[in-house]
Amino acid sequence: MSVRLFCAVDLPPDVRAELAGFRDAADPEVWRPVADDALHITLAFLGQRPEGDAAVAAGVLDAAAGPAPRLSIGGPLLLPPRRGRVLCASIADLDGTLAALHTRVGEGLEAAGLYTPELRAFRPHATVARLRSQPRPQRSLPPGLAPAAVEFRAEALTLYRSHLGRPGARYEPLHRVALMGPRPAA
Ligand code: 2AM
Repeated sequence: MSVRLFCAVDLPPDVRAELAGFRDAADPEVWRPVADDALHITLAFLGQRPEGDAAVAAGVLDAAAGPAPRLSIGGPLLLPPRRGRVLCASIADLDGTLAALHTRVGEGLEAAGLYTPELRAFRPHATVARLRSQPRPQRSLPPGLAPAAVEFRAEALTLYRSHLGRPGARYEPLHRVALMGPRPAA
């Protein structure tokens, strides 16, 4: 059997709530919302893989984990840039820790033979809605729509299995690794 796998950084509840507000201001006839508990930042999309690869990917995430990235919700974004199909909030990587984590995860998965890192630059984002094919796709950003610049630490790295279906994909966490916060002052 094969499973559809991806690795993502999880978002704290207040960040998901802010992103949900941003999402809910977009026209639901045009944009199909991503459920609150499915909001995340993708680091690597592995696609359809043999079931046994999940345990290997889990080991890669254990080895790749490190400091908790200090992040902030950025501005609204349509991706891909020229033919926007997903409505996102960009994510500001305030100290570069997310990019470093992305590189470690990508290289680890590649060394395990599970993944070919993408050539395009990593553009951290959280997808909040996907363009519906009907009635008439409008690719412009909804005017006046922007999330607040909430700062946060991403405290978990998760291997997800994606179950495709209606109304939207369901993401099942298979393995979760904690990312370390700053040490408390002595
Ligand atoms: P996203 O990060 O822009 O939302 C699970 O499908 C996750 O993997 C989604 O969050 C999705 O994009 C990301 N992803 C990256 N490449 C993908 C692809 N080719 N097909 C489906 N999802 C992909």
